Amino acid sequence: ARRGEDVRDLRGRRVVVSAGGTREPLDPVRFLGNRSSGLQGYALARAAAVRGAEVVLVAANTELADPAGVRVVRVATTGELRAAVLDAARGGGGADAVVMAAAPADFRPASQVATKIKKADDGSAPSLALVQNPDVLAEVAADRPAPGTVVVGFAAETGDAAGSVLDHARAKLARKGCDLLVVNDVSGGAVFGEPDNEAVLLGADGSTTAVARGSKALLAHAVWDRVRAHWDAAAP
Ligand code: CTP
Ligand code: CA
Repeated sequence: ARRGEDVRDLRGRRVVVSAGGTREPLDPVRFLGNRSSGLQGYALARAAAVRGAEVVLVAANTELADPAGVRVVRVATTGELRAAVLDAARGGGGADAVVMAAAPADFRPASQVATKIKKADDGSAPSLALVQNPDVLAEVAADRPAPGTVVVGFAAETGDAAGSVLDHARAKLARKGCDLLVVNDVSGGAVFGEPDNEAVLLGADGSTTAVARGSKALLAHAVWDRVRAHWDAAAP
């Protein structure tokens, strides 16, 4: 039991979690993708289910076992991820929370290539024209599935000449319009597929909560604690 509290404290809540990394096909055999493992998103889905929530997990290209008691919807591209997240979030009168732990590919090829891109004999390489993908998090935040839907984003940032990790995170939270941003400092090099995570939970009200290095399950529970605080604050 968690600190002797009611362990089913998310009972009656419907939540949508995205996980993994989307892939955009370049041709029938190649794709543009990223190294997201999906571990943090799966930990979030598992933690919510354990605490009694009804969970839809939109999983992009993950190789992980379905968490018990979670409905898993598998997707490949950012377009498919967007459709699945919006569908799950808008169903049943609107989800209580949408947590975007996935790493969507930011760009996709401008045109679909139905046949394999071949090498030219002269040693030249093709140029790929890319277009930007839709921003799912910003869309869900701007057009809430229900008035009380809590919208959570993730960001991996590095400090640079333009500002600190938190400066960049605050700007991203404002740009996305979400309620909460889970911020990972990756200044020491990005970590993919690592079992542990450490983060700062940044609220739209400017509040910050540090979550010490620990398991992804620990961070997942800290995120749901914050989401629950939003719901409790909104309750009459
Ligand atoms: N996100 C999204 N749709 C996209 C890109 C990102 O919903 N097309 C979500 C991610 O799931 C994450 C949050 O937005 O929760 C931040 O992702 P990030 O890649 O840090 O943001 P970007 O706006 O893509 O900015 P950057 O240029 O730093 O990649
Ligand atoms: Ca991005």
